[in-house]
Amino acid sequence: MKKIVVTGGSGFIGSNLINLLLKKKYFVINIDKSGYSANPYNVKSFKKNKRYRFFKLNINNKSKFLKIILKYKPVGILNLAAETHVDRSIDSSKIFISTNIFGTYNILELIRVLKRNYKLNLKLLHVSTDEVYGDIDKNLSASEKFNYNPSSPYSASKAAADQIVKAYAKTYGLKTLIANPCNNYGPNQFPEKFIPKMIFNIINNKNLPVYGKGKNVREWIFVNDTCEALLKIFLKGKIGESYNIGSGIKFNNLSIIKKLLLEAKKNKIKLGKNVKVKFVHDRPGHDVRYSLNSSKISKKLNWKHKTSISNGIKQTFDWYLKNINYFKKISRKDIIKRFGLKK
Ligand SMILES: NC(=O)c1ccc[n+]([C@@H]2O[C@H](COP(=O)([O-])OP(=O)(O)OC[C@H]3O[C@@H](n4cnc5c(N)ncnc54)[C@H](O)[C@@H]3O)[C@@H](O)[C@H]2O)c1
Repeated sequence: MKKIVVTGGSGFIGSNLINLLLKKKYFVINIDKSGYSANPYNVKSFKKNKRYRFFKLNINNKSKFLKIILKYKPVGILNLAAETHVDRSIDSSKIFISTNIFGTYNILELIRVLKRNYKLNLKLLHVSTDEVYGDIDKNLSASEKFNYNPSSPYSASKAAADQIVKAYAKTYGLKTLIANPCNNYGPNQFPEKFIPKMIFNIINNKNLPVYGKGKNVREWIFVNDTCEALLKIFLKGKIGESYNIGSGIKFNNLSIIKKLLLEAKKNKIKLGKNVKVKFVHDRPGHDVRYSLNSSKISKKLNWKHKTSISNGIKQTFDWYLKNINYFKKISRKDIIKRFGLKK
């Protein structure tokens, strides 16, 4: 039975990835510090599975991490543990440097020591982001060969980590891979991110805050498609290489809100009087457009996204509706604390 470590497995993409790995009969070891965006709800159903282990641990804790690896001897690590919210990185970037850069460095050092001292050569799939390429001009798409040009402390921390991963692969011969996915949406996402926040606010009769004029374009992918791509890259990707994971589905924020309101209508949700777009002061350094060229993963690994935007939004909306009782059970104070919503 193949054992795999997923870091950040209690978060949004990590929990969906563990779901896929368990279905594919892997033995999964989830290492997550249970930070604010980790949701115990995301991993509740895995606990009964005999092929699942959870360790509440910071990826910066090398000695405990090493003990876990030596005990389970996994074939590799999928590194998804990260601080992930751009706005938070602008408010306070230190923890982004600590987790996203030092945390990744720590994992690389761990793998280097395992290779040198224990003859264990673990494969690492490091999960990065499309944000490392920065703002992309209209009519252009970033391929893996594009220069890195990050704009926020978040994307800069991810870009730095990627470069360290590449350097460790070249210098120490580590078996590393990098994935750069576009914006994900789907079940289990923490409602401080755009799509779940809008759904949450539509259901709860709140304003729909939109930065600037709502014209920022993002490439959107349903999380299950990303998880399939990550597994494929881990199994079949060429060591030392990077792979973009995109869908080609690009919409600005206002168009996404329209789609969500349409979905609410289909679900016969009576919209409250507060449910309307509220333009708010733009985020500093806000990139206007992201766009990936994902022909490498499609040609070399024969991967393509499967989920259309309408189907993905339907599945996401349905999930939040079905699980709304969970969100209702927590107090307003908790919501503000846990979900980072402004008062
Ligand atoms: N969500 C997206 O749209 C998107 C797009 C591209 C790339 N990514 C990348 O994918 C990865 C997962 O993103 P996500 O959206 O699931 O994020 P998330 O915030 O939902 O989950 C991150 C998880 O990492 C854990 N974590 C944070 N710091 C840690 C530490 N020091 N030690 C151990 N665990 C720690 C958190 O507790 C949380 O469970 C990240 O690396 C992110 O940069 C996300």
